[in-house]
Amino acid sequence: MPAIYAYAPGKIILTGEHAVVYGQPAIAAPVQEVRARAAIEAEPGDPTGKVKILAPDIGLDTSLDALPADHPIATVFREVQQELGVDHLPAMTLTITSTIPIAAGLGSGAAISVAVSRALSAFLGTPLAEEAVSRIAFETDRFYHGTPSGIDNTVISYDRMVFFTRGKPIEMLANPESFTLVIADSGEKSLTGKVVHSLRTQIEIDPQRFNPILEKIGTLSRSARKAIEQADQPLLGSLLNDNHSLLQQLGVSSANLDLLVRIAREAGALGAKLSGAGCGGNMIALVKIGDAENVATALLSAGAINTITTTVPKS
Ligand code: MEV
Repeated sequence: MPAIYAYAPGKIILTGEHAVVYGQPAIAAPVQEVRARAAIEAEPGDPTGKVKILAPDIGLDTSLDALPADHPIATVFREVQQELGVDHLPAMTLTITSTIPIAAGLGSGAAISVAVSRALSAFLGTPLAEEAVSRIAFETDRFYHGTPSGIDNTVISYDRMVFFTRGKPIEMLANPESFTLVIADSGEKSLTGKVVHSLRTQIEIDPQRFNPILEKIGTLSRSARKAIEQADQPLLGSLLNDNHSLLQQLGVSSANLDLLVRIAREAGALGAKLSGAGCGGNMIALVKIGDAENVATALLSAGAINTITTTVPKS
């Protein structure tokens, strides 16, 4: 049997991170320039009959039965088996590789879960549809941070720009004109779970200060949806700028992210903000396509460790 390969893209949050955890809408888009890949090969001659798991990027070389039950990969296997009603697994080797930077706000954890769910379900003879893949990735995201909103697993599984509100049906965004983003990595690692948890503690202490900010971010995401649907990029850019200010007020920016956002704007971006959990990780800049190179060069000169230029296609 030939090896089975499956892939999943990275993601950026265009507007609404953090507020989305508290029921406000947010907009996210897949990033095709980086991706996770899962390869599964049958090992019919293996006398141990085991499921081997290799993830060379993070030094993982183990077997499924050696993983703790709440490990994301163990969770994916259990959930896929349950979904397909498969009790016994044949011997196989799963190899996971990814070009999505870890702890950078680009959805690396969810993308790995999605790629592994897709590869495993195809290997077992019944490729799972997006909805099941997304639900499984949501379960595994809980391992990384206890209270995910569900936006990361959704945008990565459906591989389309989404307008997402927790607990509501997913809405795909109509996008009459493609637009270009430069994504820059601040080089500071950021663990989503930690940032979400620390913000939650602060919101609990002072809801009167934080709740209005979360609501403003929700209103902003609704305006950003209109700006996208009307192909009004200058308006979208200024909403990204406003979103960054509101994220600063939530206390999830950093000196580096603020610097990169300022540099992107000075280099001609229509707007810029941090993207994802913040306190490090990536920022995004909305640019006219002809300005992408200038903005990327300025960001690298200001200390970004990497940039990705991506286009959100018409839809
Ligand atoms: C992470 O990509 C976005 C956050 O809003 C967390 C979540 O939605 O689960 C910070």
